[in-house]
Parts: sequence; structure tokens; C-alpha cells
Amino acid sequence: MHFPAIEDFYKRLLFLLPFATEFPSDDRRFSYDAPMQWQYIYPHCGGSDQSPISLNAHKVIPIGLPPLHFGLYDEPFDDLLILRNNGHTVEFSVPTTVYGERPYITGGLLGDFYEAMAVHFHWGSSQQKGSEHLLNGRRYDLEMHIVHRNTKYQSDEEARNQTDGLAVLAVLFKVVRSNYLHYQPGLNEILGSLLHLSDFNSSYTPAAFLTLGSLLGNLDRGNFYAYQGSLTTPPCSPVVLWHVFAEVLPISHLELPKFWQLRDRRGRPLINNFRPLQSIKRRQVFQRRSPEEYFWT
Ligand SMILES: *[C@@H]1O[C@H](CO)[C@@H](O)[C@H](O)[C@H]1NC(C)=O
Ligand SMILES: *[C@@H]1O[C@H](CO)[C@@H](O)[C@H](O)[C@H]1NC(C)=O
Ligand SMILES: [Zn+2]
Repeated sequence: MHFPAIEDFYKRLLFLLPFATEFPSDDRRFSYDAPMQWQYIYPHCGGSDQSPISLNAHKVIPIGLPPLHFGLYDEPFDDLLILRNNGHTVEFSVPTTVYGERPYITGGLLGDFYEAMAVHFHWGSSQQKGSEHLLNGRRYDLEMHIVHRNTKYQSDEEARNQTDGLAVLAVLFKVVRSNYLHYQPGLNEILGSLLHLSDFNSSYTPAAFLTLGSLLGNLDRGNFYAYQGSLTTPPCSPVVLWHVFAEVLPISHLELPKFWQLRDRRGRPLINNFRPLQSIKRRQVFQRRSPEEYFWT
């Protein structure tokens, strides 16, 4: 598709390039109206190793990836969460745990330790499902990202310039027609906060002390896809070791629409905040399965 007016607009914006990259990371201005145009301001978005991609169990390399190891994931935070509507998503920074350090992961494709920094979501609308990754050809309703930084780098800026800088855990959710709250206490706190986060830049602090692991509920943490990819928002840096869980968690049909009530910085509905699929090209996608599954198949 060709949008002459939009292209012209972005070409003119190119003159602003030196300033555009100076925005602090959570004040980057971009829109989901024309994600194909991001590359004119953020060159990595048109570059290699981009995310999201479509994951297919029949096109993976079933090598024996080690399991992920979750450190401090089930220890309480030493502070309350501050959830914020940043105009693109709902997010929070991960506090340290009562042990003074943040939860961390290693294993899978990760050769180092990666500490959890932030959590955010991608969703669709009443018309469209909004996960970013596809699993066996299906798009799901919601996708949660837990962003981790390689502890050998000192800052986000440094990590965003290294191919092993970040690790993101992705969890997909599927809407179910059930009113009962599923065993995802952390997620339920976040869902209960969304009504307070309608306006751009609004924030809210749920009154519960949570653990990062409580966002995952009873998820099978042993079964995941892994590949080398990128941030799915500008600047699309190709610095992410993705780990996408194969199990899809339930979310009630009464809860999911709460995301669609949020508004962006222009006061418009904040919906469909997922990036289109990117091509896998020559990349390898790995899948690790729980040992029990190998036993039964
Ligand atoms: C790291 O920075 C250099 C210089 O700015 C750039 O050319 C390169 O693409 C960056 N690498 C990554 C992975 O972002
Ligand atoms: C967001 O809100 C904070 C205080 O709550 C304020 O300091 C900041 O300037 C606001 N940012 C924008 C972009 O409005
Ligand atoms: Zn994301």
C-alpha cells in the first residue's frame, strides 16, 4: 500500500531526526497508524532481526535448550508498583525485591543473567485480536512483555546497543467466557487498576505487595519458543533475546475490554497497539518443551 501524504509527512520529519532520538525513552512519539513508516525516523525498524514474528511448532529447531531459571521471581517486591499509561501501553518499572535485587532470569538462549526492568502489554480492540506474536498461525487477545536487561551492561542505553542486551519474556492470553477470576493474582491487580489509568500519563498504585511470578500464575514455564529479535516499538533495536511461552493463559471476557478504555496522548482510544508481523528471513527459532511432554509424545 502507498500513502503519499503520510510518506511526505515522514520525509519532512526526517529533518527532525537528530532531535527525535533525544527523546527520553518513554516519551518517544510514534503511532500505530502507520508502523511501516517508523523506519524513516528509526532506521533499525527497517533493518534486520525484527519482531514480532509468527511462531510455528512445525518450523522450529527442537534442540535441547536448557530451561529458564527464575531468580527471586516469587519473592515480594520491597515497594508498591506504579502503573502508568504512557500513551502507547500500560507499564510499570519492576521494583527491587525484599532481598534488595530485582528478579532475574538466565538459561534458555541466555548466556548471562538478565534482571527484570519493566512490564507492559499489547492488545487489540473489540474488532481485532492484539497479540504481537502469532502461535501456530493464531493471533491471541493480549500479550504481556517482561523486559529484562543483561546485568553486564550498566544502562538501558548501553544494553540497547548490544545484540545480547535485553531479554523479553512474552505471555499470550486468550479470552474466555467465564466470570471467575483465574489464578493470576498479579495480573488481577493490574486489571483492577486499568479503570484508573484511562488518561494519558495517569498513574495508579495498587495497594498490594506483589511478586513478579504472580503475573504468570500457574503458567508452564518449561515450554517456550526462543529467537533473536528486536524491540517491537521504535527504535526497534535488534537487541532482544525473545522467549515466548507456548502455554496461552486465560483472561475473562469481562476483563479484557478494560484495556480498550485507555486513551492516548491525543485523547483517542489506545487500541491495537501491536506491531505487524516481521519476516523471519534466515533466523532460527528454537522450542524447548517440558520433559513431561517429551515423555508423552
Ligand atoms: C550500536 O551503535 C552503533 C553506532 O551508533 C550503531 O552503528 C550500531 O548499529 C548499534 N548496534 C546496535 C545493535 O544497536
Ligand atoms: C506526566 O506526569 C508527571 C507527574 O505526574 C509530570 O511530571 C510529567 O511532566 C508528565 N508528562 C507529560 C508528558 O505530560
Ligand atoms: Zn512490548
